[in-house]
Amino acid sequence: MKKENRTMSRRNFLAVSGTIAGSTVINPKSQIFAGNVATPKQSSGKIKVALVGTGNRGAGMWGGSVVKEYFDYVDYVGLCDHNPGRLEVGSQMIGANCPTFTDFEQMMRETKPDVLIITTDDDTHDYFAEKGMEMGANIICEKPMAIDERKIQTIIDAEKRTGKECRVTFNYRYSPHRAKIWELLRSGEIGNITSVDFHWYLDTSHGADYFRRWHRLVEKGGSLWVHKASHHFDLLNWWIESDPKSVYALGNLEFYGKNGPFRGVNCRNCSHTKECNFYFDIMRNERNKRLYVDNEKYDGYHRDGCVFRNDVNIYDKMAATIKYMNGVQVSYSLTTYSPYEGYRIAFNGTKGRIDAWIQESNPTTDANYDEIIVYKNFGRRQYIQLPQGSGHGGGDKLLKDQIFIPGTTDDLKQAAGVRDGALACLVGIAARKSINSKETVFIKDLTTIKPQEKKEYRKI
Ligand SMILES: NC(=O)c1ccc[n+]([C@@H]2O[C@H](COP(=O)([O-])OP(=O)(O)OC[C@H]3O[C@@H](n4cnc5c(N)ncnc54)[C@H](O)[C@@H]3O)[C@@H](O)[C@H]2O)c1
Repeated sequence: MKKENRTMSRRNFLAVSGTIAGSTVINPKSQIFAGNVATPKQSSGKIKVALVGTGNRGAGMWGGSVVKEYFDYVDYVGLCDHNPGRLEVGSQMIGANCPTFTDFEQMMRETKPDVLIITTDDDTHDYFAEKGMEMGANIICEKPMAIDERKIQTIIDAEKRTGKECRVTFNYRYSPHRAKIWELLRSGEIGNITSVDFHWYLDTSHGADYFRRWHRLVEKGGSLWVHKASHHFDLLNWWIESDPKSVYALGNLEFYGKNGPFRGVNCRNCSHTKECNFYFDIMRNERNKRLYVDNEKYDGYHRDGCVFRNDVNIYDKMAATIKYMNGVQVSYSLTTYSPYEGYRIAFNGTKGRIDAWIQESNPTTDANYDEIIVYKNFGRRQYIQLPQGSGHGGGDKLLKDQIFIPGTTDDLKQAAGVRDGALACLVGIAARKSINSKETVFIKDLTTIKPQEKKEYRKI
């Protein structure tokens, strides 16, 4: 991108960040779940929270940080993981001083939480969401909500049957850069959106990491079409403000897995460490060592698995054409072995175009802001610069503020429920099915959700 005319003055920077901050101000009326069903049962007024899955995300984003930063609003009453070692270490990292359980239903029976947070492997989310709601809790579920259409239907049905609610944590919606794009699209600056070009690049560090872990198996994470791209499809659904109608997709595995020049089981026990560009020394990271290496004896899970193992059965390059109910068409791709990590997106509209990109690793400039360019068909272009945030572009903290701090509003419609969680996954599930059948797959044929021309927002 050319740099002329876009040096950010301090005044512009503050003006832009002020707009974003100003649009998420606290209002004492809203609550975590609609219908006030999460009203705390305790006299302290704090919400009783239990968590299942004390791995990386559970111990960090939803554990330690919640205990430290949201202790005025939240009481941890129970932690669960089926790996007793990781439960013990995760519990120490979280520092909640509450009982721990390897038996989930025992935890639910004995602790009776208001809210259950689910941070287990993706293939288990449906079980914990359904059981959790049946046992009286509202749910905060990490993305992806579930990895196939049958599991998605289980959660839809359980929510209806129990009257409880499941919220899905699409932290990507909360980054100021993406929130600003949503505001620009709603402002009509580029007229009606007609098409979107969206290309996401995972690099040879973070991208490769998916092929080291349980994510490499379609039966665990639904493939990156669901595990990773559901983040991207949720952004599209939210930005376009309509439901996806149909998907046609292509994909292949041609870099990792069976394509590697050699292979081992995991990096620590491999004879190819010297010649392998993907050698990963897990022992250099104390947190990874404590969470995973020290607890391999319980479940045999290698966090530093070889990216070239023959059992990798997910795609490493993917492309899809997605049609929306309001007529918008999307050209999407995901590449997993790029020299840099980030994305490029363009919205084409009847009055102009929005271009935006993020380069998260290996950046070509040392700018400390992210940029959006708004082009008018017959006018001047506008450069908008936003401060960079840490923790998924600043999204993690804003998401937790909205979930835990009473009275936080949802002006940008960022709160996502089961319908949003389902539709994001269903695009990826449809893509998988399309690759297998070589045909266009329709979202309406997958679950009881009927796609709408105008997106239904979740109310909080
Ligand atoms: N929103 C985001 O940006 C984001 C980022 C990272 C991870 N995540 C999501 O968080 C979830 C956890 O990811 P992670 O990186 O922490 O994985 P992880 O492997 O580090 O942790 C998962 C934990 O769940 C436990 N577990 C698995 N099955 C279980 C069962 N049946 N009963 C009890 N415990 C069980 C495992 O032992 C492990 O401790 C995933 O769904 C992932 O998609 C989301």
